[in-house]
Order: sequence, then structure tokens, then C-alpha cells
Amino acid sequence: MTEADPPAPESPNSRESDDALRAWFLGPRAENADLLERLIVEALRDHVFWRRNHHPEDGFTIRETDKRTPGYEEAVSTLTQELMGLLAELKRGVPSFSGRYKAHMLSEQTIAAQVGYFATMLYNPNNVSIEASPVTSRLELEVAAQLARMIGYDPTTSWGHLTSGGTVANFEALWIARNVFYLALSAAGAARELQVELQVTLPNDTRAPLESLSLQQLLNIRTADALDLWRDLWNSGPHARVTRALTDHSLSTVGYQDYGRRLALDYGDPLPASVVLVASTAHYSWEKIIRALGIGSNQIVRIPVDSHFRMDTNALWDQVVALARRRVPIMACVTVCGTTEESAVDQLDEVLAVRSRAERELGVTFHVHSDACYGGYAASVTWNAAGERRTAAEIQTSSGCDWPSDNWVRAVTALAAADSVTIDPHKLGYVPYPAGAFLLRERRARELVAVDPPYLAPTAGLASAQDLFLGRFIFEGSKPGAAAAAVWLSHKVLPLDERGYGHLIERTVAGAHRLHDALRTADLAPYRIVLLPVPDINIVCYIVHHPALHTLEELNAFNESIYERMSMETPGATPEYIISRTRFQTPMYDGAVGPTLREIGVCTEEEWKRSGTDGLVVLRSTVMDPHLTASAPAPDHITGFVNALRRACDAARGQPAAS
Ligand SMILES: Cc1ncc(COP(=O)(O)O)c(C=O)c1O
Repeated sequence: MTEADPPAPESPNSRESDDALRAWFLGPRAENADLLERLIVEALRDHVFWRRNHHPEDGFTIRETDKRTPGYEEAVSTLTQELMGLLAELKRGVPSFSGRYKAHMLSEQTIAAQVGYFATMLYNPNNVSIEASPVTSRLELEVAAQLARMIGYDPTTSWGHLTSGGTVANFEALWIARNVFYLALSAAGAARELQVELQVTLPNDTRAPLESLSLQQLLNIRTADALDLWRDLWNSGPHARVTRALTDHSLSTVGYQDYGRRLALDYGDPLPASVVLVASTAHYSWEKIIRALGIGSNQIVRIPVDSHFRMDTNALWDQVVALARRRVPIMACVTVCGTTEESAVDQLDEVLAVRSRAERELGVTFHVHSDACYGGYAASVTWNAAGERRTAAEIQTSSGCDWPSDNWVRAVTALAAADSVTIDPHKLGYVPYPAGAFLLRERRARELVAVDPPYLAPTAGLASAQDLFLGRFIFEGSKPGAAAAAVWLSHKVLPLDERGYGHLIERTVAGAHRLHDALRTADLAPYRIVLLPVPDINIVCYIVHHPALHTLEELNAFNESIYERMSMETPGATPEYIISRTRFQTPMYDGAVGPTLREIGVCTEEEWKRSGTDGLVVLRSTVMDPHLTASAPAPDHITGFVNALRRACDAARGQPAAS
């Protein structure tokens, strides 16, 4: 193959940001080692001064003479020796800093995040409560407010915090959604017990007496209306009595077993179990979460995706209608912004339109969540430096490719109207693990999961202390303040708009587009590359075909063999370039995989369905490398990659490798 096409000409503005980009990371050859070293030493020295100046009247616990004792010297030798061992081991790790790494969503981290983490780790704050983290609990809430603003939430009425990752953040989203879902029902039970009469707003905007509602209606109250009802109940009598009555009728205290029994007794007409609608490309953590919350994986209804791997919103509407006919309540609908396998962005604006229509025409509503764990940071491209939204055309000018589309911008802008959104700084935020984030549009709903431990309670009456006592509202307990500081410093250096993260993500998307283009135009005869559509963000998926392959099994075995030669799965392997692979299986990819199977031509979709868990092996390259479109990459990691792929194909076919 010849040299890849030169990158598109850049605007002066993007040239400036590109200059900054070179300072944001340590660099594939540790080019910025002196900068990182200077900052780490600065952070360490500063911490040392802090210790030395903390009650300087205190004596020294470890004296210079202690350092000359045999026990001390031996301990230091052991430490040094074992560290050398660890450092040697670590070099067998994944070189995610390199342009040669085109596999999972692992990446280089920003220097800001690395230094922020290191500096704060020396203080070891625990963000469970302000008492254990007077500085970093504040930073955590600041970071959450920044992310909230990025997706268009109002930071004064929304709420958010950091988690150890996407799984826990998603768990919290459904945990709260579940409690909101049952809130009107609990309120109805409590109101009956307290003999208070309340009105509630129905999804079609009419008002009705709470006691007149059927079980089905009680399970179809919009979040804000359910929370208003809760407020009215709260104001209807002494707080202690209301709390007791609500607690007696809440799922969180009663538990699913007794709750179901009580509903059958109280309403005599038990509904079918409520379901959670999930895009069929959703991350596997959703199944864990639905099981853990006691909802049961039988209650997952997978919504098919289209040939671009985005939720099919016509299928969603059909499913909502079918469920409404069978009187099956819908607890939540989980959409994805940046699917794990393909980086597809669901058309969230259309999903929200389906819900509005369901409210109007069917009296049905549900919590809409966007799992933007992977793609959430891409929302930064929609903001300019003045804090205004950019159009698709403006973003295309700076991305230098025909990305994004108007539909993409509409979908990402719609995050502002989702009930909850999860975004992982430790994915497209380029910060070290662990850092996920949970964002909730209606901050009042966090009270539905609050628990008060006596030993960590905030000072009564201090509203800000309530906020800074995170442990009260979150699933996790102890958690690293260092993670909050890492994200905070990274956001300071790379603002969440076109100058910072927006620019970084545009570069990776442009890199992914170049890779897609290079694979499309590469002449690898006799091999043929079958590409999945141009990605919505930066994950390029492809399958390699050869004329001698006649069955799905043979095709899968060939691609699996390419993957083995280009992965680090075998211990000690040092592949030239590193990729990942996935399997498109039935029923999740039914319909979506059709065009790809037709282009390959070895089997029909029906035959593919019969392959069950074998599915279709798909090679996958996540382009996290921010330098892929730089003007003078040495070596060019696109040409180099295509050539390495060819060598891996030859090796997988048992051919002598071409030089
Ligand atoms: C879309 C999506 N959601 C959730 C997760 C889970 O995130 P974590 O591994 O941080 O728990 C992932 C992980 O890849 C993901 O891609």
C-alpha cells in the first residue's frame, strides 16, 4: 500500500490546539518526560513541605541514626529490589500510549490527570464524606457540575458524582429509576394510611386524585410529577409520621418478595412484571445490574439496532405499544451514546420523542437513561469557547472530515433531556482508573436512595455539608479523592469544549476516519476487507475475507487467527500492531448484521443465527491515539497498520510473510 492520504488542511485555530495537544500527554516516546518529571517532583516536594510545616514543634519519629541500622537498611533494600521486580513486570503491560495500540478503549492519560492523581494520592483523601476529604469532595462536585453542563443539564437542579466506573454509575442510574418508578405507588399507600388526599399529574398532563389511580396508572407517573407528589405528601403532616408511612410502603424497605404479595392484596389485579428496555448493543454490565437489583434478567427487553448499530426507534415504538396492550409497565429505557463494540450513538432525540408520544397516546411513561460511559466526552465537541453550541457544519470544519452529521449533533444535544446519563472520565476522558460519573437530571431523586450512617452524618442544618457528604446518596463507600483531583485538573487544562476535550476527540475521530478510509482503499488482494459503516465516534470494525473461505466457520477461524497474531492475549506476545475482536451474536445483532453478511457472501442471516454463540467474528480497532492525524507521524501508523494486517493475514493462511 502507498502512503496514506495527507491529513486535511487545518485552520489556524486547530493548529494552535494541536500545539497544545503535544503538551497534554507524555507522548508515545515519552517526549515530555522532563515536563512530567518536573511536575511530579514539584508535587512531591510540596507535599514534603506540608508535612514538615504541620506542627513543626513535633519531634522527628525517624532519625538519621535510625537510617543506619541493619533493620532499616534491609527494609530499604527489600523495597528497592521488589520495586525493580515490579517495574520489570509492568513492562509486560499493554502499550496503550502507542499508535501501534488499536484495540480496546484503553489510552494514554493526560499529564494533568497523572500529576493530579499523584499529587493527591500523597494526601489519600476519601471522598465518602467531607470529613475525610475537605478538598477533594468539593472538587468531585465541581467536576460533576462541569460534566452536567457539558451534556446540557442545569447544574443547579441536577446532581452528579464520580464512581469507580461505568458499571457502578449505570447501577445507580437504574437504582434511582427503580425507586422513582415505585414512588407514586408508595405515596398512594402512605397517603391511604395517613388519610390525606392528594392530586397527581398524569402523563397526558391532566390532574387526578391519587386514590383514584389504578396500579397501572401509579406505575406511569413522570419523574418530576412523582417527586412533586412526594413533596406534597411530605408537607401534608408531621415529617416523622410521613417518613414512617412512606418507609412502610417503599420497595427499598419491604423488598420485592413482600412487595409483590402486598400489591396483589391491595390492588387484587397484579400486573405482569415490569420490564427494562435495553438497546441490544448495550454493555453486558446491564444484565448484571438488572440481576443485582432483583428485577430479574427475564425482564430485559432488547430493542433491535439498525445497520449502523443504533437503537431502531420504530422497533422501540412497536415494543412500547405491544407492552402497553399487555399492560406491562416499563421501568426504564437504556440507550447508548458510544456503544462498546462500535461506538454507535443512539438517536436519543427520537427515543425521547417515542416517550412523549407514549405519554400522550398511551398514558405510558418511563425513565430514559443514556449510557454515555464511552461516548459522553464527545459532547464537548458541541461547545465553542464562548459556551455556545456549535453546528455540525462548524464541527466538521475543525474535525477536517465529514463528521459529525446533523443527526449526531441532535442525538448528543438530547442528552440534556435524558433522566440520567453516565460518562466515564477513565474512557474518552483520558484519565487514570478509577473514574466513572453518574449524572441525574432531577437532583431531588437522589433522596430516594439516601441512607444515613450515624458516624458520618453532616452537621444538622448545613445544606452544603449535606451535599459534600456523598456517602449518603451513593452506592459505594470509600473512594479515592485522587480520582476527583485527576479529573478536575484535566478539565482545567483541557476545557470541555472545542479548545480542549472537543479538539482531542475531533482528532481521534478524524484518525478513525482515516483508518476506515485506508482499510476501504487498501489493495490487499487476494484478501478483501469488509468494513462496518464509518463509526459514530472512533471504533473501526472490519472482517477480512479470502476466496478460499466458504463457510462462516472458516471465516471466523481465519479472523480469529488474525486476531491471535495481532493481540496480546498470548502471554509474552509482542505483535507489531494490536487489535481486539468481538462476536456479533443472535439475537442482539439480528437485522443489523444483514448488510455485512450479504457483502461477505459466505452465509445467510438465517445460517448465522443458527451459529448461536459463535456468531460472526469481527476485528475491532479503537482509535484513542490523538496523534494519528498529526502532520509528520513517524512511522505512519496507518500505512504501518495496513501492512501489518496483511502480514497477519498471510501468517493466518500459512503463507510466507511478504516483506
Ligand atoms: C457503553 C459502556 N457502558 C458501561 C461500561 C462499563 O464500564 P466500566 O468497565 O468502567 O465499569 C462500558 C465499558 O466498556 C461501556 O463501554
